[in-house]
Amino acid sequence: MEKKWWHNKVAYQIYPKSFYDTNGDGIGDINGVIEKLDYLRDLGIDIIWLSPIYCSPLADQGYDISDYYDIDPRFGTIDDLDRLIEEGKKRGIGIVMDLVVNHCSDEHEWFKKACEDPDGEYGKFFYIEDYKDGDPLPCNWRSYFGGSVWEKLPGHDDKIYLHVFHKKQPDLNWENPKLRKDVYKMINWWLDKGIAGFRIDAIINIKKKLPFSDYPVDGDDGLSSIDNMLKEATGVGEFLNELADETFRKYDAFTVGEVFNEKDEELPLFIGSHGYFSTMFDFSAESTKEDISPENYKKAVFKAHERVDGIGFLSNIIENHDEPRGVSRFIPNEDLDDTSKKMLAGIYFLLPGLPFIYQGQEIGMENLDKVNDINDLDDCANANIYETALHEGKTHAEALAHLINVTRDNARTPFQWDDSANAGFTNGKPWLMVNPKYKHINLASQINDSDSVFNFYKELISLRKNPEYESTLVYGDFSPYKSEQKNLLAYSRVGEKSVMVIANYQKDAQTLSLPSKIKKVLLSNTSKTLDNSSFNSTEIVLSPYELLVVEMV
Ligand code: GLC
Ligand code: CA
Repeated sequence: MEKKWWHNKVAYQIYPKSFYDTNGDGIGDINGVIEKLDYLRDLGIDIIWLSPIYCSPLADQGYDISDYYDIDPRFGTIDDLDRLIEEGKKRGIGIVMDLVVNHCSDEHEWFKKACEDPDGEYGKFFYIEDYKDGDPLPCNWRSYFGGSVWEKLPGHDDKIYLHVFHKKQPDLNWENPKLRKDVYKMINWWLDKGIAGFRIDAIINIKKKLPFSDYPVDGDDGLSSIDNMLKEATGVGEFLNELADETFRKYDAFTVGEVFNEKDEELPLFIGSHGYFSTMFDFSAESTKEDISPENYKKAVFKAHERVDGIGFLSNIIENHDEPRGVSRFIPNEDLDDTSKKMLAGIYFLLPGLPFIYQGQEIGMENLDKVNDINDLDDCANANIYETALHEGKTHAEALAHLINVTRDNARTPFQWDDSANAGFTNGKPWLMVNPKYKHINLASQINDSDSVFNFYKELISLRKNPEYESTLVYGDFSPYKSEQKNLLAYSRVGEKSVMVIANYQKDAQTLSLPSKIKKVLLSNTSKTLDNSSFNSTEIVLSPYELLVVEMV
C-alpha cells in the first residue's frame, strides 16, 4: 500500500455546538475549540473534524448550509476560523471541515433565486418538477426524516422540489455542470485557506436514478426507502472522480467519505491509493439493524476489514453525531463500567485503519437515561421516530423510551468538562440538556486519575504512536483469531512486531489458547499483572471484559 501522510494520525470529531461555549450564549463556538486545543494536543490528536459551522438556519444542525463561504455568527467569524487553523498548525493539528454538498439550505441564495425564477439558471441547480394538486408525485421515495421527498416550491403552486433529507435541505442537481463548477470553486477556496481536508457528507446521495420512478412500497405511508433507489443509481463514480480531480487531489487533502451502499468492486475506486477519497467510515457495526451482540459486532467489524484488506484504510468509529453513544450501544447496560468501556476502546482503536474519537467518547460519555418530554430533545429526526413508534402500536411512554435509545441527541448533549453547573460547558443556558450523568462522568475527575477511561484512550494513542509499534499498528497485517470462539474478540497485527489484541466480550471469565507465548503486555484494562506462568504458557484465563494488548514471542 502506498504510504500517505495521514496514515499514522489519530482523528477527533468535534460537534462544535456542544463542545465548549466561551461567550455564555449556551452554544459552543470556534473560540471554545481554540481554548481546548491544548487539551486535544495532550490527548494525542492530529486531525480535528468539525461538524458544520457555516451559516445555517440550523434546521438539521448546520447540515443545511445557507452560505458556504461564511461562518454562522453563533459559532464565530471567519477570522476565528483562520485563527483556529493557525493555532492548530502550531500544535501539529490539521482542521477538517464538513463538506455538505448533496443539498444546501432552502435559505441559500441559490434556492431563493430558484424560487424567484424556477426556469432560470438557478432553477437548474435543484430538482424542480411541474405538479398540479391531484397528480401523482414524480416518485414515491421516502425522505430520511420521514414523509415524501417532494415539497411545494415556495411561491409556486404548480411546482415541487426534491429533498431526500429535511424539506429545508433541497437537493442540489449534480447533473448540472454549472452547479458542479460552483461547488469545486467553493471547495478550493477552503483548501486555499489551509485546511487539511474534508469529511464528506451523504455523498452517495448526489447520484439519483433518473428519470424519477417508483420503487416497491415498504411502509404504511405508501412510500419507498431511498435505499431502494440508491441500489439502482449507477454512475456516482464519474461525479466523484471529477470532484477529486478538480479539488482534493490537487492539494493532497485528507478526505473521509460518509459512504454507504458501495459495491465490493467499487472499493478500490473509493479508497484505493488513487481513490476518490482518502478513506471512508466503517459503519458496519453502527448500521446493523439486529440487536448488536458481541458476536455480530465481531462479525460485522471483521468482515468490513477483511473486505478492504490490501485495498485501503477504513476510518474506525464507535459513534458519531448521528448515533447513540457507542458504549451504550455495544455494551449491555448492566455491564457498563470503566472496564467494559476500555475494552471497547481497545478493540476498535487498534484495528487497521484510522481511529476517530467522537467528542466525549474519551471520557466514556453515555446515552441519556430518560427524558420527560420529547420537547426536552431537539433533533429534527425525532418526531418521525416517535410517531412511527406510536403508529406501530407503542404507548407514549414506550415510544419515548424507544426514542431515547436511538435519538441522535444522545451524542449531541454538551461535553462534560467537570461537575460544576452545566458540566462546565457554558455559563449560560445550554441549547440542549446536559446529560445528568455529568456529576460522575466528567473530564476533571478523570484527567489526573491514571485508571480513568480518559487516560486509557491516551495510552492507546501513545501506543499507536510509539515508534517501536507504529509501523505494526498502522501497516501490519490483520488476522482475526479464533473468531468462532463465542464472545472472544481477538486479532493479530503482524509487521515488524507481532501484536495481539484480545478481548473477553462478556461478563464471565473465559479461557483462551494462544498461538504462541506472550512476550510483553503492552496495554491492559485490568489491574492484574501477568505472572511468570502466564508468560510460560499459551493458555490464559481472561476476566470479565478483559482487554489485553500483547506482543507475542
Ligand atoms: C449526514 C449527517 C447528518 C445529516 C445528514 C444530512 O448523514 O451526518 O447529521 O443529518 O447527512 O446532511
Ligand atoms: Ca457561544
